Amino acid sequence: MTKLRAAITGVQGYVPDYVLTNEELSRMVDTSDEWITSRTGIKERRILKGEGLGTSHMGTKAVQGLLEKTNTDPQEIDLIICATTTPDMVFPATANLIANEVGATKAFSYDIQAACSGFLYSIFTASQFIATGMYKKVIVVGADKMSSIIDYTDRSTCVIFGDGAGAVLLEGNEEGEGIHDAVLQSDGSGWVHLHQKAGGSRRPATMETVQNREHFVYQEGKHVFKNAVTNMGAAVLQVMKQNNLTAEAVDWLNPHQANRRIVDNTAKSMGLADGVDSEKVMMTIHKFGNTTSGTLPLNLWDYESRLKKGDKMILAAFGGGFTWGAVYLTWAYDGK
Ligand code: UT7
Repeated sequence: MTKLRAAITGVQGYVPDYVLTNEELSRMVDTSDEWITSRTGIKERRILKGEGLGTSHMGTKAVQGLLEKTNTDPQEIDLIICATTTPDMVFPATANLIANEVGATKAFSYDIQAACSGFLYSIFTASQFIATGMYKKVIVVGADKMSSIIDYTDRSTCVIFGDGAGAVLLEGNEEGEGIHDAVLQSDGSGWVHLHQKAGGSRRPATMETVQNREHFVYQEGKHVFKNAVTNMGAAVLQVMKQNNLTAEAVDWLNPHQANRRIVDNTAKSMGLADGVDSEKVMMTIHKFGNTTSGTLPLNLWDYESRLKKGDKMILAAFGGGFTWGAVYLTWAYDGK
């Protein structure tokens, strides 16, 4: 009997309308289109505007589109997992809000917090519920309103991040396609280099924390960069080794979109001589920036029409925690 695997059977993205260009940023802080483009590869990013709209707004749009596109009745959904670092509220979970908005009243739902590796962790977690035969239809959403925790006076972080969401439907597959394997890791000692100082239980919000601008992303860019290059590359190589894959055999690298130069290093370390310029490497950073949990599903959404049944894909990410890893899957349908 062929093994039951969790396969992606549909993907949908949502990005807000407002485009924040490098040019506009260069009027807000001391930066330039030249610096941002050459150091990160980003030209523009989307920003969610509007009173009272949080991450669940984007996640809901993505899931509604996904249900429509795949002709799925929300009542059939067993579970919704939302990967996010910018939940609408500390509680309840953003996944609960999304499930309610889309009418998935029979589903249970929860969030996973793993910063930029959130979607990777979530999709592998979700896949286990399908592969064991426990559930039939699981939705994984990766969504972040990074603009809600970015200091737009800090040029070292405000140029990088954007807002967006993507969602995938996972269903059982007995034809050999789906999620095959993963290498997932974390190292909590990395927290000092990338975190939000206040607003959690260790340092709740006070007048002082607000005045000190502690409710924003704090990042030691260079240190995070080095760790991202080393660990993402190692995780990709490890998952390739475990599955006897060569660079030639891999059809797609779907990497987290934090920095074009990190992706270039990762692609080269897995054996793609052209690095980020290889046709096998998915890139959307130029138009969406770093949307944290949104990058991997937004890549899938953007490249969906080019994907073919059986394509071998490696998803890879690195982020706050530190968290990182790589997932190997084979694509289950021809893109339209
Ligand atoms: O997704 C989650 C994980 N996050 C990441 O993977 C991000 C990893 N880190 C990075 O992508 C890069 O470190 C950054 C894009 C954040 C920064 O690039 P960098 O090449 O590492 O620059 P740097 O921080 O070493 O700064 C180099 C120079 C500094 O000036 P001096 O000290 O050499 O005079 C910065 O002040 O660039 C300056 N700088 C800027 N200049 C213009 C920093 N940000 C900017 C800016 N515009 N926006």
